[in-house]
Amino acid sequence: VTGSTPPTIGVFDSGFGGLTVLRALIQRLPHARFAFLGDTARLPYGSKSRRTIARYAAESAQFLVREQGAEFLVIACNTASALALDAIQDAVTVPVLGVIEPGANAAHAASHTRDVLVIATDATVQSHAYAAACHALGLRALEKACPLLVPLVEEGWTRAATPTGGVTSEVIRIYLAELLAESEAAGLNPDTLVLGCTHYPLLRPLIEAAVPAEMRVIDSAESAAEAAIQLFNGRIANFETAESTGLVSGHDFSRAADLPETTWALAPEGSFSAVTQIRCFATDSTEKFERLGSRFLGRPTGKVELVDLGG
Ligand code: DGL
Repeated sequence: VTGSTPPTIGVFDSGFGGLTVLRALIQRLPHARFAFLGDTARLPYGSKSRRTIARYAAESAQFLVREQGAEFLVIACNTASALALDAIQDAVTVPVLGVIEPGANAAHAASHTRDVLVIATDATVQSHAYAAACHALGLRALEKACPLLVPLVEEGWTRAATPTGGVTSEVIRIYLAELLAESEAAGLNPDTLVLGCTHYPLLRPLIEAAVPAEMRVIDSAESAAEAAIQLFNGRIANFETAESTGLVSGHDFSRAADLPETTWALAPEGSFSAVTQIRCFATDSTEKFERLGSRFLGRPTGKVELVDLGG
């Protein structure tokens, strides 16, 4: 045990889709502190060049490490993980985890046929990061860009039984029918579909309805959270164990008065652990972040703070 202060995990996404990863992390590490940054002013990353994505992502990572004291970083954005993981690792000195490798590992564990499909943003698909990570594990992967899905999720058009959800279902049906036809033409026999974008878990029911019933759907948020626990093992795992067995004394993190900074929000009791501390930052409209972010996080985001990272 290295001390009684819970480690701060920085979680970064281009928008608020990465809150799906934060949600999965909180469930596994309720005693950690989380600082989440959504670079909403510069979203979408998925249609931009590697150079621009690398600059934005490196600046965002530096904010979380230098200004929020993050000791570990989870890049909860497939596009930044696919195109800028090296640039982020060069920009900070803390351990950094992306979502591509965990997603590929989960596909590897799920697939029996060894053929997988991946849907993601344009930039992620063009980087072929998923195909490379899958090939390294002996899988064949066919990737498809679905650029209309992020804006539909941002609009909140995600509910199946509504007219707008019907539009989204139709878009998903077209993309996946194309992907399945391409896969057949390429002689693949896929049994697994990777959701290679942090926005897509919100569309999971609609996506599952558009693929054959036996197709396994992999959410990289869940696999990234599992991988974070492995990678950050030492300190976080020790803290979790010590805290839950009472070995760490001196602080009762369930009392706001004991928190080093009063702005750390406590997760409301009954949703996640009462001790989880979360602080959310966005580079654009905090009001929109608070409104839409709660859907991704599965609970209110609390007050979101505005940060300016430049243009
Ligand atoms: N966060 C991005 C991803 O996971 C999607 C949104 C964007 O294009 O910036 O790929």
